[in-house]
Amino acid sequence: SEKQDLSGRRILISAGGTREPIDPVRYIGNRSSGKMGYALAEEAARRGADVSLISGQTSLTAPACVNIIKVETAKQMQCRIEEKFPDSEIIIMAAAVADYRVEDIADQKIKKTAETLTITLRKNPDILFSLGQKKKNGQFLVGFAAETQKLLAFAQDKLERKNLDMIIANDVSKKNAGFNTDTNIVKIITKDKNVEDVPLMTKTALASVILDRIILYFDR
Ligand code: C5P
Repeated sequence: SEKQDLSGRRILISAGGTREPIDPVRYIGNRSSGKMGYALAEEAARRGADVSLISGQTSLTAPACVNIIKVETAKQMQCRIEEKFPDSEIIIMAAAVADYRVEDIADQKIKKTAETLTITLRKNPDILFSLGQKKKNGQFLVGFAAETQKLLAFAQDKLERKNLDMIIANDVSKKNAGFNTDTNIVKIITKDKNVEDVPLMTKTALASVILDRIILYFDR
């Protein structure tokens, strides 16, 4: 039988990519599959946690026994996450949130008349950063970093800047890692500067390793 080492723990997870509308029929999106966040939600629920999953775009079906809330844009995601945050003990932000949104969304479908078309983008709120600012004792905050270079340095900087307890760094330039694959190769970095190299494994297996490490640190 499955270990119940997260029994009753309130866990908040974000997953998938946000979509930022341009007009009623178009949007700006990204290549996030949602696989990592969904695997974490499924495994946490299996281990007894009370899981809230705030999900952007994905083609995956909702895991069993998880409270799932679907959102489209970064702003909607922020709103739902902030609602759940005060009551959450472990917060894992695995969503690929768009850094920018369209400043003025067109009311009607944009027609292809002009030779060039300019869309002004406005910076989105950094949800994880604002959670880091609000974090209280007893809350454990985990982020992800997808980088194509200087993986360790960029991830460590992100951990400090966003006031995280742990960051999962993944080199998206590697084969079988990152977006839309079933596997990943990551480094797990903690606030105390411990770095663990996790070899290639499925996102399901990795979810289990990440939750093991969170429990190790959270209980300290
Ligand atoms: O800074 P960067 O976007 O690379 O950080 C990635 C981490 O921050 C991920 O954990 C992601 O879920 C989170 N994030 C967020 N809100 C944003 C951008 C990223 O929560 N607007």
